[in-house]
Amino acid sequence: MGAESVQFDTTEPLGALARRALGFVKDDTAVGLGAGRAATAFVRALAARVRDGLRVRGVPVSEATAALAGELGIPLVGLEVEIDVTVDGADEVDPDLNLIKGYGGALVRERIVAAASRRQIILVERDKLVPRLGSRGRLPVEVVSFALPLSRRRLAALGLAPTLRMAGESQFVTDNGNVILDCVVGPIVDPPALERALRAVPGVVDTGLFLGTADTVLVADGTSVSELSRQR
Ligand code: A5P
Repeated sequence: MGAESVQFDTTEPLGALARRALGFVKDDTAVGLGAGRAATAFVRALAARVRDGLRVRGVPVSEATAALAGELGIPLVGLEVEIDVTVDGADEVDPDLNLIKGYGGALVRERIVAAASRRQIILVERDKLVPRLGSRGRLPVEVVSFALPLSRRRLAALGLAPTLRMAGESQFVTDNGNVILDCVVGPIVDPPALERALRAVPGVVDTGLFLGTADTVLVADGTSVSELSRQR
């Protein structure tokens, strides 16, 4: 492992977030490793600490995160361990610290790892703070491929105008072998009710609504980081 491979730049927002998130990591614990740009910055920051002697085991939420963390020298384990803290990103954060996640397509394992963690720390830049979930207009829903035509019809009937996520010319396939329907939403009046309606659709594996999972959200405004927390 070259020293340059674990460098992170604290003069840019994601690096500043990553450095702050390191303060939540204790020695000799398991740490959930999220997906996306912010979580990747954290993986790099954590790898630098591991190189300096911090003893942690990482539990990655995606194959891409596993590949990066492994390459950077973070020992990896599965869900056989209790996870002390998970550090992940998000696509939207509301004033109650509810989230929309999954623009990166890793939502199922993100939910599982979050549920297996004592604490979930979310890293975002300020533009992800929204007055109501759905404000950015998109809600990812992971669906079993076999059910796709039916799930798509049912989601359309709910008024969600689902679009199959693509990766170039092909369907985007998640690490779980499923596909993603990106639903069109506006500001969501009742997120728990929408979550129930979505989960009742045949073929739906999970949704991007993460209600009540986040304990702390670190928000970067430039390189200045503030902390929003709530009691679980
Ligand atoms: C991955 O499925 C997502 O939930 C990411 O955590 C989310 O999209 C945030 O990613 P960025 O940090 O890249 O914005």
